[in-house]
Amino acid sequence: MKTQKRAPFIVFEGIDGSGKTTQKNLLCRRLSAIGIPVYPTREPTDEKIGRFIRSILSGNAKADNRVIAALFVADRLDHLLSEEYGMLGIVQSGRAVICDRYYFSSYAYHSVDMPMEWVMQANSVAAGILRPDITLFIDITPEKAMERIRKNRESTELFETLARQTAVRGNYLKSFELTKDAENVVVIDGDRPVSDIAEDVWNAVKIYFE
Ligand code: ADP
Ligand code: TYD
Repeated sequence: MKTQKRAPFIVFEGIDGSGKTTQKNLLCRRLSAIGIPVYPTREPTDEKIGRFIRSILSGNAKADNRVIAALFVADRLDHLLSEEYGMLGIVQSGRAVICDRYYFSSYAYHSVDMPMEWVMQANSVAAGILRPDITLFIDITPEKAMERIRKNRESTELFETLARQTAVRGNYLKSFELTKDAENVVVIDGDRPVSDIAEDVWNAVKIYFE
Protein backbone atom coordinates (compact mmCIF):
# COMPACT_ATOMS: atom_id res chain seq x y z
CA MET A 1 0.00 0.00 0.00
CA LYS A 2 1.23 3.46 -0.82
CA THR A 3 1.90 5.45 2.35
CA GLN A 4 0.27 8.85 2.28
CA LYS A 5 2.17 11.85 3.62
CA ARG A 6 0.31 13.65 6.40
CA ALA A 7 -1.14 17.11 5.85
CA PRO A 8 0.79 20.18 7.08
CA PHE A 9 0.79 21.24 10.73
CA ILE A 10 1.28 25.00 11.09
CA VAL A 11 1.57 26.87 14.38
CA PHE A 12 1.24 30.57 15.19
CA GLU A 13 3.09 31.92 18.21
CA GLY A 14 3.52 35.34 19.79
CA ILE A 15 2.95 37.30 22.96
CA ASP A 16 -0.63 38.22 23.87
CA GLY A 17 -1.96 40.85 21.49
CA SER A 18 0.64 40.15 18.80
CA GLY A 19 -1.98 39.45 16.13
CA LYS A 20 -1.73 35.65 15.96
CA THR A 21 -5.45 35.00 15.92
CA THR A 22 -6.00 37.57 13.17
CA GLN A 23 -3.33 35.94 11.02
CA LYS A 24 -4.49 32.41 11.75
CA ASN A 25 -8.01 33.30 10.62
CA LEU A 26 -6.75 34.95 7.42
CA LEU A 27 -4.57 31.97 6.56
CA CYS A 28 -7.42 29.51 7.15
CA ARG A 29 -9.68 31.60 4.92
CA ARG A 30 -7.06 31.76 2.18
CA LEU A 31 -6.48 28.02 2.25
CA SER A 32 -10.20 27.22 2.29
CA ALA A 33 -10.72 29.56 -0.66
CA ILE A 34 -8.33 27.50 -2.78
CA GLY A 35 -10.00 24.26 -1.74
CA ILE A 36 -7.57 23.05 0.90
CA PRO A 37 -9.30 21.40 3.86
CA VAL A 38 -8.20 23.08 7.10
CA TYR A 39 -8.79 22.50 10.79
CA PRO A 40 -8.30 25.70 12.83
CA THR A 41 -7.62 25.13 16.50
CA ARG A 42 -5.92 26.64 19.53
CA GLU A 43 -4.29 26.04 22.90
CA PRO A 44 -5.41 26.12 25.59
CA THR A 45 -8.13 24.07 23.89
CA ASP A 46 -11.86 24.50 24.19
CA GLU A 47 -12.09 21.00 25.63
CA LYS A 48 -12.28 19.94 29.30
CA ILE A 49 -8.67 20.48 30.34
CA GLY A 50 -8.34 23.68 28.31
CA ARG A 51 -11.48 25.10 29.87
CA PHE A 52 -10.15 24.35 33.32
CA ILE A 53 -6.89 26.12 32.40
CA ARG A 54 -8.85 29.18 31.25
CA SER A 55 -10.69 29.30 34.56
CA ILE A 56 -7.31 29.39 36.33
CA LEU A 57 -5.94 32.09 34.00
CA SER A 58 -8.98 34.27 34.60
CA GLY A 59 -8.56 33.95 38.37
CA ASN A 60 -11.62 31.76 39.02
CA ALA A 61 -9.55 28.83 40.25
CA LYS A 62 -6.12 28.64 41.87
CA ALA A 63 -3.15 26.40 41.17
CA ASP A 64 0.61 26.34 41.67
CA ASN A 65 2.65 27.38 38.60
CA ARG A 66 4.02 23.85 38.21
CA VAL A 67 0.50 22.48 38.19
CA ILE A 68 -0.53 24.99 35.51
CA ALA A 69 2.44 23.99 33.35
CA ALA A 70 1.52 20.32 33.77
CA LEU A 71 -2.11 21.02 32.88
CA PHE A 72 -0.94 22.59 29.62
CA VAL A 73 1.05 19.42 28.91
CA ALA A 74 -2.05 17.30 29.56
CA ASP A 75 -4.23 19.59 27.43
CA ARG A 76 -1.67 19.37 24.61
CA LEU A 77 -1.47 15.57 24.70
CA ASP A 78 -5.25 15.34 24.69
CA HIS A 79 -5.30 17.83 21.80
CA LEU A 80 -2.91 15.53 19.91
CA LEU A 81 -4.32 12.15 20.74
CA SER A 82 -8.08 12.46 21.29
CA GLU A 83 -10.05 10.11 19.04
CA GLU A 84 -12.58 12.87 18.51
CA TYR A 85 -10.50 16.01 17.91
CA GLY A 86 -6.87 14.83 18.03
CA MET A 87 -4.59 16.83 15.71
CA LEU A 88 -2.47 13.78 14.93
CA GLY A 89 -5.43 11.88 13.46
CA ILE A 90 -6.59 15.00 11.62
CA VAL A 91 -3.28 15.62 9.81
CA GLN A 92 -3.00 11.92 9.05
CA SER A 93 -6.43 12.02 7.43
CA GLY A 94 -5.22 14.76 5.07
CA ARG A 95 -6.57 17.92 6.67
CA ALA A 96 -4.12 20.74 7.43
CA VAL A 97 -4.07 21.81 11.08
CA ILE A 98 -3.51 25.49 11.84
CA CYS A 99 -2.98 25.99 15.55
CA ASP A 100 -2.89 29.17 17.62
CA ARG A 101 -0.10 28.35 20.19
CA TYR A 102 1.66 25.04 20.85
CA TYR A 103 4.64 23.99 22.95
CA PHE A 104 6.71 27.13 22.29
CA SER A 105 4.04 28.97 24.32
CA SER A 106 4.81 26.67 27.22
CA TYR A 107 8.56 27.26 26.84
CA ALA A 108 8.02 31.03 26.76
CA TYR A 109 5.35 31.48 29.45
CA HIS A 110 6.21 28.87 32.07
CA SER A 111 9.92 29.51 32.10
CA VAL A 112 9.21 32.97 33.50
CA ASP A 113 8.82 31.12 36.81
CA MET A 114 10.79 27.90 36.33
CA PRO A 115 13.74 26.52 34.37
CA MET A 116 13.15 26.29 30.61
CA GLU A 117 14.82 22.86 30.58
CA TRP A 118 12.08 21.55 32.90
CA VAL A 119 9.37 22.90 30.59
CA MET A 120 11.05 21.45 27.50
CA GLN A 121 11.44 18.09 29.18
CA ALA A 122 7.78 18.11 30.23
CA ASN A 123 6.76 18.77 26.62
CA SER A 124 9.10 16.29 25.00
CA VAL A 125 6.39 13.68 24.55
CA ALA A 126 4.27 16.11 22.51
CA ALA A 127 7.32 17.13 20.46
CA GLY A 128 7.96 13.45 19.73
CA ILE A 129 4.38 12.90 18.56
CA LEU A 130 3.92 15.88 16.24
CA ARG A 131 6.40 18.62 15.42
CA PRO A 132 5.10 21.64 13.47
CA ASP A 133 6.24 21.84 9.86
CA ILE A 134 6.60 25.53 10.56
CA THR A 135 6.12 27.81 13.57
CA LEU A 136 5.32 31.42 12.66
CA PHE A 137 6.34 33.82 15.40
CA ILE A 138 4.47 37.11 15.02
CA ASP A 139 6.88 39.48 16.69
CA ILE A 140 5.80 42.74 18.28
CA THR A 141 7.16 44.88 21.11
CA PRO A 142 5.49 44.30 24.48
CA GLU A 143 4.58 48.01 24.60
CA LYS A 144 2.69 47.80 21.32
CA ALA A 145 0.97 44.58 22.36
CA MET A 146 -0.18 46.12 25.64
CA GLU A 147 -1.52 49.13 23.77
CA ARG A 148 -3.63 46.83 21.57
CA ILE A 149 -4.82 44.78 24.52
CA ARG A 150 -5.86 47.89 26.48
CA LYS A 151 -7.76 49.20 23.48
CA ASN A 152 -9.61 46.00 22.73
CA ARG A 153 -10.25 43.99 25.85
CA GLU A 154 -12.31 44.64 28.92
CA SER A 155 -10.51 42.30 31.26
CA THR A 156 -6.82 41.55 31.19
CA GLU A 157 -5.76 38.08 32.20
CA LEU A 158 -3.10 37.19 34.73
CA PHE A 159 -0.32 37.11 32.15
CA GLU A 160 -0.90 40.41 30.51
CA THR A 161 1.38 42.82 32.33
CA LEU A 162 4.18 44.65 30.56
CA ALA A 163 6.98 43.08 32.61
CA ARG A 164 5.63 39.62 32.01
CA GLN A 165 5.13 40.21 28.29
CA THR A 166 8.74 41.41 28.07
CA ALA A 167 9.99 38.30 29.87
CA VAL A 168 7.83 36.06 27.68
CA ARG A 169 9.16 37.60 24.46
CA GLY A 170 12.73 37.10 25.72
CA ASN A 171 11.95 33.47 26.51
CA TYR A 172 10.51 32.89 23.06
CA LEU A 173 13.73 34.16 21.46
CA LYS A 174 15.83 32.04 23.82
CA SER A 175 13.77 28.92 23.08
CA PHE A 176 14.16 29.45 19.32
CA GLU A 177 17.92 29.60 19.76
CA LEU A 178 17.97 26.47 21.94
CA THR A 179 15.88 24.41 19.49
CA LYS A 180 17.21 25.74 16.19
CA ASP A 181 18.54 22.37 15.05
CA ALA A 182 15.17 20.64 15.49
CA GLU A 183 12.57 23.31 14.75
CA ASN A 184 11.57 25.43 11.78
CA VAL A 185 10.70 28.86 13.17
CA VAL A 186 10.06 31.93 11.03
CA VAL A 187 9.98 35.31 12.76
CA ILE A 188 7.60 37.83 11.17
CA ASP A 189 7.48 41.53 12.06
CA GLY A 190 3.99 42.01 13.52
CA ASP A 191 4.09 45.78 13.77
CA ARG A 192 2.79 46.38 10.24
CA PRO A 193 -0.56 46.42 8.47
CA VAL A 194 -2.48 43.16 8.76
CA SER A 195 -2.32 42.51 4.99
CA ASP A 196 1.50 42.90 4.83
CA ILE A 197 1.92 40.39 7.65
CA ALA A 198 -0.53 38.02 5.94
CA GLU A 199 1.55 38.17 2.77
CA ASP A 200 4.71 37.17 4.67
CA VAL A 201 2.77 34.35 6.34
CA TRP A 202 1.58 33.13 2.96
CA ASN A 203 5.07 33.27 1.46
CA ALA A 204 6.39 31.22 4.37
CA VAL A 205 3.72 28.48 4.25
CA LYS A 206 2.78 28.12 0.59
CA ILE A 207 5.48 25.51 -0.12
CA TYR A 208 3.57 23.10 2.12
CA PHE A 209 0.56 23.26 -0.19
CA GLU A 210 2.23 22.92 -3.59
P1 ADP B 1 -3.47 37.58 19.65
O1 ADP B 1 -4.29 36.41 19.18
O2 ADP B 1 -2.02 37.40 19.35
O3 ADP B 1 -3.72 37.96 21.07
P2 ADP B 1 -5.20 39.21 17.97
O4 ADP B 1 -5.14 38.72 16.57
O5 ADP B 1 -6.40 38.86 18.79
O6 ADP B 1 -3.87 38.83 18.76
O7 ADP B 1 -5.01 40.79 17.89
C1 ADP B 1 -5.05 41.60 19.05
C2 ADP B 1 -5.75 42.93 18.69
O8 ADP B 1 -4.92 43.66 17.79
C3 ADP B 1 -7.09 42.73 17.96
O9 ADP B 1 -7.97 43.73 18.38
C4 ADP B 1 -6.72 42.90 16.50
O10 ADP B 1 -7.81 43.41 15.74
C5 ADP B 1 -5.58 43.89 16.55
N1 ADP B 1 -4.59 43.65 15.48
C6 ADP B 1 -4.20 42.44 14.97
N2 ADP B 1 -3.24 42.59 14.04
C7 ADP B 1 -3.00 43.93 13.95
C8 ADP B 1 -2.11 44.73 13.15
N3 ADP B 1 -1.25 44.19 12.26
N4 ADP B 1 -2.14 46.07 13.32
C9 ADP B 1 -3.00 46.62 14.23
N5 ADP B 1 -3.86 45.94 15.01
C10 ADP B 1 -3.88 44.61 14.88
P1 TYD C 1 -5.69 33.22 25.30
O1 TYD C 1 -6.91 33.86 25.81
O2 TYD C 1 -5.81 32.11 24.34
O3 TYD C 1 -4.70 34.33 24.75
P2 TYD C 1 -4.26 34.69 23.29
O4 TYD C 1 -5.50 35.10 22.56
O5 TYD C 1 -3.30 35.84 23.46
O6 TYD C 1 -3.58 33.48 22.73
O7 TYD C 1 -4.89 32.78 26.58
C1 TYD C 1 -3.90 31.91 26.52
C2 TYD C 1 -2.90 32.26 27.59
O8 TYD C 1 -2.29 31.05 28.02
C3 TYD C 1 -1.84 33.17 27.06
O9 TYD C 1 -1.55 34.19 28.00
C4 TYD C 1 -0.63 32.26 26.96
C5 TYD C 1 -0.88 31.21 27.99
N1 TYD C 1 -0.28 29.90 27.69
C6 TYD C 1 0.62 29.36 28.58
O10 TYD C 1 0.93 29.95 29.61
N2 TYD C 1 1.16 28.13 28.31
C7 TYD C 1 0.86 27.44 27.19
O11 TYD C 1 1.38 26.32 26.97
C8 TYD C 1 -0.09 28.02 26.28
C9 TYD C 1 -0.50 27.25 25.05
C10 TYD C 1 -0.64 29.24 26.57
